[in-house]
Amino acid sequence: MDMLIVEGGRRLSGRVRVHGSKNATLPVMAASLAVDGPVTLNNVPALVDVITMAQLLRSLGASVSGTAGCVKINSQHVEGVVAEYDLVRQMRAGVCVLGPLLARFGSARVSLPGGCNIGHRPIDLHLRGLAALGADIRINGGYVVAEAGTLRGAELHLEGPHGSSVTATCNVMTAAALAHGRTIVHCAAKEPEVASLAAFLNRLGADIDGAGTSTIEITGVEHLHGGSQTIVPDRIEAATLAIAAAITRSEIEIEEAPVDHLVSVISKLREIGVDVKVTGRLMNVNADQTLRPIDVTALPYPGIPTDTQAQFMALLATIPGTSVITDSVFPDRFMHASELLRMGAKLQRAGDSTVVEGVNSLSGAPLMACDLRASAAMLLAAIAADGESQIRRVYHLDRGYVRLEQKLNQIGARIRRCNEAHTLHRHVS
Ligand code: UD1
Repeated sequence: MDMLIVEGGRRLSGRVRVHGSKNATLPVMAASLAVDGPVTLNNVPALVDVITMAQLLRSLGASVSGTAGCVKINSQHVEGVVAEYDLVRQMRAGVCVLGPLLARFGSARVSLPGGCNIGHRPIDLHLRGLAALGADIRINGGYVVAEAGTLRGAELHLEGPHGSSVTATCNVMTAAALAHGRTIVHCAAKEPEVASLAAFLNRLGADIDGAGTSTIEITGVEHLHGGSQTIVPDRIEAATLAIAAAITRSEIEIEEAPVDHLVSVISKLREIGVDVKVTGRLMNVNADQTLRPIDVTALPYPGIPTDTQAQFMALLATIPGTSVITDSVFPDRFMHASELLRMGAKLQRAGDSTVVEGVNSLSGAPLMACDLRASAAMLLAAIAADGESQIRRVYHLDRGYVRLEQKLNQIGARIRRCNEAHTLHRHVS
């Protein structure tokens, strides 16, 4: 298993480029199962989750070539409708194959998903939406078993206790694209990844209107033909890099930043006192002035993304004064707090929030990554901290960032990747 050894306390400077979005890639790959012809995806990030999705599609009979940059998928010969536990357990987005399989083949058997341990993650909205389209759904042996002679358009609501669901909206939208008649999805997720999936499906012959707003109207079509899509840049990676500049009190430039998708993040950074200048897709982030504590609440889009909440916590832990962090999307997503405490952060859970008393400096420590965005927060804290940190279980980080440590090294960080077993052996011998 790989680990990262981080020498903290170095300023960053220079330019980095954002990769394609993980969360935009995975639903589009899954939706390719509903397509009769070849699909070409460009700007695909080389991530473990993308490789896992490719394996899942292959296990169903699709051909998938390339795993980074340009990925070609052909689902013409797909016959299988069973998405096995071994693959779906590795990645939450595995559940996105449910809608496409059901729409194209009238049945699907998909393992209940895994993914990051960030609190309770039900899939009732996926099932409710597909049931509204006429699917008969039951849970059997850890699998969702869905059957539908014919899917029929319907008017449905996808609101849950914490807002809508991104992947449920993707699942239902793809199924409705091939259903008979018209579907209206109320309380749909408005995240850019939903809009980019709709753009992809429309290019392949679907008739979807309103994706990116809370009401999506879909008129079913007979079939989807082949086509291509360029994956949008990753808004969470861009936000993580911007917070890296802020936490090290540095100035960097971020190329290919999807600035239209980062309005709330940019505005929050500016409230903190970070100077953010935007020129087209180039973001200049400068944090060489005194920063202010602030309250942050993660909300559904266009609010602050829950996927940046941990990184904001790391930053606020280094800004003297009191900040309060709340996550309205995943209220228990505070697993990173215990590792930040080990670096000297002052954090206190208070009900649904975490109160952060910022300190002048964090200190390097041995750390254990516990989920994808938590590991990004630890890496950010480690590059800012005094002394050395070792971050174990970085496979969590690799699920969602393309060699983030290389990108940070390129602008002045000092991070080494090595094998945990080798390092342990060196220490012992
Ligand atoms: C997606 C993202 C993930 C991000 C999350 C929220 C992908 C592959 N992953 O995950 O990175 O953190 O959106 O922006 O795109 N919920 C229900 N019932 C459901 C489904 C969800 O109550 O059937 C709840 C969840 O527990 C959570 C909220 O809805 O409180 C949002 O979850 P959801 O949008 O579904 O997250 P994902 O789509 O899994």
